[in-house]
Amino acid sequence: MSTAAKVAIVSGASQGLGLAFAQRLAAEGYNVLAFDIKHEVTTLEGVTGMVADVSNRADVERVVSKAATMGEIEVLINNAGAWKRTPVTNSWEQAISDWDDLMDTNLKGALTLSRTAIPHLKRAGGGFIFNVSSYYVLPAKSDGTNPPETDLYSASKWALNGFTESWAASLAKANIKVNGLCMGAVDTPMLRGLFPGNELPSGLSEKLIQSSDIAQQMVDVMNSGRTGENFGSWVGEPVSIGPQKPIHRRITG
Ligand SMILES: NC(=O)c1ccc[n+]([C@@H]2O[C@H](COP(=O)([O-])OP(=O)(O)OC[C@H]3O[C@@H](n4cnc5c(N)ncnc54)[C@H](O)[C@@H]3O)[C@@H](O)[C@H]2O)c1
Repeated sequence: MSTAAKVAIVSGASQGLGLAFAQRLAAEGYNVLAFDIKHEVTTLEGVTGMVADVSNRADVERVVSKAATMGEIEVLINNAGAWKRTPVTNSWEQAISDWDDLMDTNLKGALTLSRTAIPHLKRAGGGFIFNVSSYYVLPAKSDGTNPPETDLYSASKWALNGFTESWAASLAKANIKVNGLCMGAVDTPMLRGLFPGNELPSGLSEKLIQSSDIAQQMVDVMNSGRTGENFGSWVGEPVSIGPQKPIHRRITG
């Protein structure tokens, strides 16, 4: 059995959910490489910070190379995400520019980081990839959760599902488990940014999901050994991983 340190990479980790994932993985004994485009992730015990843009391939290669010097890379959290309103009445030029902004981070970033890290996870004998999505992609729970004016953000999260499903199937033999975390409103700077002055209306904070609850859900998924699922969490309901869904087996392709 390898005695090398276990390494986890978390994107978009200077605040919010990414910071909570990084701190929790450090508490679980991982050497964590946490990076963010905005500013240096505070170096905490067990967490090494870097400034890097997940949509930039050279940056991603720098991140993964650094992580590989810290031990065996076993965990990858595709958390970095951008959000903005994209009304369909916007000009074509604006729509294409928004597409590039959102898809480059939310989708191409996850692809680039995963493709760079997966050979390392394979060498480590397996591991975990989490795609941080949104409950918008779980319409079976409640129709119509996709808010208007966020078509591109929603599309980026729906598309992440394609990665989660395909990678879970194609990486199963390598013992790499791939899951989506699909949460409702979590109290993070992104969510607070929706309100004037970044101030939550009184009483709302207590109702929101906390980042630490989602970090606990991540650990519960890892311990469950499940793969290829989208784990939802909804405001006002306890965050859990719920019962395993029936496995749909394809008979073609
Ligand atoms: N907060 C919520 O209610 C909520 C709900 C559903 C899904 N999510 C998803 O959770 C993830 C984390 O969201 P959050 O609420 O913590 O957001 P946040 O904005 O508070 O934090 C996201 C971090 O990602 C970083 N980032 C953005 N683009 C980047 C890039 N190109 N390269 C590297 N880092 C980049 C930002 O600088 C920021 O620090 C996102 O993918 C988001 O879409 C959040």
